Amino acid sequence: LLGSVVKVTFIRASGEKIQAKGKVGDSLLDIVVNNEIDLDGYGACEGTLTCSTCHLILPKEIYDSLPDPPTDEELDMLDLAYDLCDTSRLGCQIIMTKELDGLEVRVPTTINDARA
Ligand code: FES
Repeated sequence: LLGSVVKVTFIRASGEKIQAKGKVGDSLLDIVVNNEIDLDGYGACEGTLTCSTCHLILPKEIYDSLPDPPTDEELDMLDLAYDLCDTSRLGCQIIMTKELDGLEVRVPTTINDARA
């Protein structure tokens, strides 16, 4: 159902939890922007797969359950991200579905702008 409300929790490296709301069809980048979440430098390329600042770390079961694996372009960008984990993804490439409602994602300690 496009447009139904979903909740996402962003967990900072400090442990601080930030609750956010979005809609089915939003990317995690959209949710950060629309909720005005203060993540320094996040989403610098506005989802055009050229920055890696939207790096987030997913719970393993969620990472494994996503229908679309990362593309080569996304993997290239992830290589440039700090704090890379086995379950790292770029937030601009994760589109919210009803199944992802209640998602908790970790924000890496440092945001790296690959364009810098
Ligand atoms: Fe730049 Fe996702 S916002 S790669």
